[in-house]
Amino acid sequence: MNGTMGEADSYLEVKKLADDIMAKIKCRPVVGIVCGSGLGELANMVQDDETMAYEEIPGFPVSTVTGHAGKLVFGQLGGKPVVLMKGRVHFYEGISIQKTALPIRVMKLMGVRTLFVTNAAGGLNQSYEIGDLMIIKDHVNMPGFAGMNPLRGQNDERFGPRFPAISKAYTKRLRDHAKHTAKTLGFEGFAIHEGVYCMLAGPSYETVTECKFLNNIGVDVVGMSTCPEVIVAVHCGMEVFGMSLVTNKAVMEYDVEQVANHKEVLEAGVLRSKDVQKLVAAMLETLEI
Ligand code: HPA
Repeated sequence: MNGTMGEADSYLEVKKLADDIMAKIKCRPVVGIVCGSGLGELANMVQDDETMAYEEIPGFPVSTVTGHAGKLVFGQLGGKPVVLMKGRVHFYEGISIQKTALPIRVMKLMGVRTLFVTNAAGGLNQSYEIGDLMIIKDHVNMPGFAGMNPLRGQNDERFGPRFPAISKAYTKRLRDHAKHTAKTLGFEGFAIHEGVYCMLAGPSYETVTECKFLNNIGVDVVGMSTCPEVIVAVHCGMEVFGMSLVTNKAVMEYDVEQVANHKEVLEAGVLRSKDVQKLVAAMLETLEI
C-alpha cells in the first residue's frame, strides 16, 4: 500500500479495497456522506445499517483524534442507499494529503455518485454566530498553495483528468436544493448562510493576523479538512454538497481573552447536530441522483 509518504494508492489497490468491502456488505451505496466533528450522530438515522470499522479495512486511514470515531455505516437514509463515514482522518494527524482522500476513491469504486461533506469550522465572517450553518459555495485549499494537493503525483485517467476544473465543485443544483429543503423544514433561531470555506493544515488554530488575512480574501469559515476529499471527488466525477457548522468564532482581535478550543467545537456540534441530520436526510428524500 502506498499513501503514507505522499503517493496515492494505485487504481488496482483502491479497486481491491472497494471489492473486498462490497463482498461483505449488501448495500450498494450511491451517496457518500462524510461526517465532521460532532456530526457523526447522523449514522443513527441510517436504516438497515451494516457497519465496518476502519481498522477492519487494510490500508484505510484511521483517525487518532478524540471525537472522530472511525467506521463506515451502510444503509438507507432518506430512501437512498448511502455509505456514511463516521469520523474522518485529518492531514494534521501526519497522514499524507493523498491518504486523507483515499476513502472518496473507495466510495467511487463502490458506486457512489454524489458526495455530502460536513465539517466543523470557525466563523470569520462577523455576521456568523456559533451554531449557524453554512452551505459551502467555494473553497480555498490553502495547503495546495504550498504543494499539498491530493492529486499531486502520477495521474490515473481511470479516476479522472490530469487538470480537473474545481470552480464548480459545489454544484448550484445541490446548494439550491439545500436552501429549498431548509425552508420547507422551517429552521428557526439559527441562520443558514452560503459562503466560502478555507482549509488550513492545522492542528494549531489560526493567529489573529491569519484570520484577518483569510477574511480579507473572502473566506467566511476556516477548518482543517474537506478540501482534499472534495478535490478528489470532483476529479472522479462526483457531484458535491458541502456544509459547515460554525462551532466557534475565530479570534479576529489582538490581546483579547477569547481563544479557540476543541471542547467548544465539540459542544457546538452536539447542540446543532440534530438540525444537520434532519437537513441531510430531508435533502436525500427529494434528491434526484
Ligand atoms: N479553526 C480551524 N479549524 C476549526 C475551527 C477553527 O476556528 N473550528 C473548528 N475547526
